[in-house]
Amino acid sequence: MKKIYAILLLSLFILSQCKQNESNLLKTVTLKRQANEGVVAANGMVVTAHPIATKIGLDVLKKGGNAFDAAVAVKYALAVVLPKAGNLGGGGYLIYRTSDGEKGALDFRETAPAAASRDMFIEAKTDSVMKQKALLGHLATCTPGTVDGMDKIHKKFCTLPFQTLIQPAIDVAKNGFAISDYDAWTFNRAQKEFRKVNDSSMIFISKKPWKKGDSLIQNDLSKTLERIRDNGRDGFYKGETAQYVIDEINSGGGILRKEDLENYSSKWRKPIEGIYRDSFNIISMPPSSSGGIIIVQLLKGSNAYDFKEMGHNTSKTVHIMTELQRRAYADRAEHMGDLDFYEVPIEMLLDEEYIATRNASINMEKATPSSEIKAGKVDKIESLETTHFSIVDKEGNAVSITTTLVGYFGCKVLVDNAGFFLNNEMNNFSLKPGFPNIFGLVGGEANAIAPGKRMLSSMSPTIVEKNGDLFMVLGTPGGSTIINVNYQNIVNVIDHGMTMQEAVNAKKHHSQWLPDAIVMEEDALDSLTISKLKEMGHTSFRVVEQLGRTEAILIRPDGSYEGAADNKRTGDAIAGGY
Ligand code: DON
Repeated sequence: MKKIYAILLLSLFILSQCKQNESNLLKTVTLKRQANEGVVAANGMVVTAHPIATKIGLDVLKKGGNAFDAAVAVKYALAVVLPKAGNLGGGGYLIYRTSDGEKGALDFRETAPAAASRDMFIEAKTDSVMKQKALLGHLATCTPGTVDGMDKIHKKFCTLPFQTLIQPAIDVAKNGFAISDYDAWTFNRAQKEFRKVNDSSMIFISKKPWKKGDSLIQNDLSKTLERIRDNGRDGFYKGETAQYVIDEINSGGGILRKEDLENYSSKWRKPIEGIYRDSFNIISMPPSSSGGIIIVQLLKGSNAYDFKEMGHNTSKTVHIMTELQRRAYADRAEHMGDLDFYEVPIEMLLDEEYIATRNASINMEKATPSSEIKAGKVDKIESLETTHFSIVDKEGNAVSITTTLVGYFGCKVLVDNAGFFLNNEMNNFSLKPGFPNIFGLVGGEANAIAPGKRMLSSMSPTIVEKNGDLFMVLGTPGGSTIINVNYQNIVNVIDHGMTMQEAVNAKKHHSQWLPDAIVMEEDALDSLTISKLKEMGHTSFRVVEQLGRTEAILIRPDGSYEGAADNKRTGDAIAGGY
């Protein structure tokens, strides 16, 4: 019901704006929306996890801002309206493609503080991993990257003043907004952990349960945002805000220091690219994310199979996808980490011959147990909460951003006086070789903790070109499942001919080498398919409520945009176009 109401409100708003702006309608395309499509629009599309953020982004596009302007405004808006993931205290990635075809990536992933060390979460006496410490509380936090990332994006691409872009977020923080059912549910769910690591006066701690319609006013956060508005990145990494962060960290025994904040710098990187089915070029995130390499490995490996003929979510298709996935995730565990610290053998991992060798061990009829799969041999190594948004403007500039605090509300510490949550990104390092993180992912040396190092991620904001033109912009949260959800969305559109909305709605499955299991959404696979997979030797199946929460845009043949928000499951995601 809340979803219908939100969609109705947004549509009314968009309609009224369209009327005012009729003279500005820029593209003359026929906007016939098919029933199986998402939101369709000619001039711009914003798909985010929250109606207020979508509206703020759309406003920027209508005022003449480009996709990057809208992205900065959306990012700050999400920091206010999606406190569990939106974040000033976390980090993330950008993949972009400008209207003239320039592509790039920005890595604003958090870094380990200078005082971090390889075995800091290993109890010396027992050699056991203190995994709670890397999840809850101050020690779990790494140096945040979001504000520096937005600053770099603004300086390189934006056309509107930064003050204009951040102001809507400040207004919402100051004036408050009515929380949704889903917000109330997440706030209530985290109460116990909030109380463990915050004073009882912390604004998210409530004596009576939060409920839909309660107003969330965030005064401390609005002041932090004002300092960022007035001083740029220094309003966060230096001065008053930095002092609040350090006071908070010191009060709880964390290791983040002033110098870590001052020295933080996000990095422009070269995206991972690879061809799928001859015409499609996949552009995705390089390390410190594993996402781009694995998505391209999976798609290149998939080129050898005809999924269209095999059918969507049939035993044959799921079997092949699972076999490809377990091989790729084995490579992730062994070979992937922060490029600045570890030589990730990117070329080898994406090499056609290497992929063919990996494929050669796939038996069409029989599962290979993960225990028999090892990462590929390299001769020379030359190495639960996130949010994604996708934006395309009228010129065709495309922005794909995924950001995270890791767990929902990160390490659950809200910086006193500054009003934002800190990440628990320490958990994404390999705390001890072979020890699984919260997503069950294992790793080794490549992803060991080191001062200043970025922890390996699965976040994979992605853009797809078709015959050299912009075709799709997509991404999702979901920890280790992010990669496979993106992979299946791409296959769903390209091989199975789905619209963007159908692809997003389609039930997903996931496997990741270890644990050796096929995880799936309810009804993703019917019982006959599961029995056939069992006959092939796939022994372990697990149903989860949802895999991913995709926000994606597809360019239709007439040049207009189809925005698809994942609104079949929990959350308040919504697409808005004009
Ligand atoms: O970077 C990563 O891979 C994780 N920190 C992402 C966390 C995530 O997606 C949790 N959300 N649902």
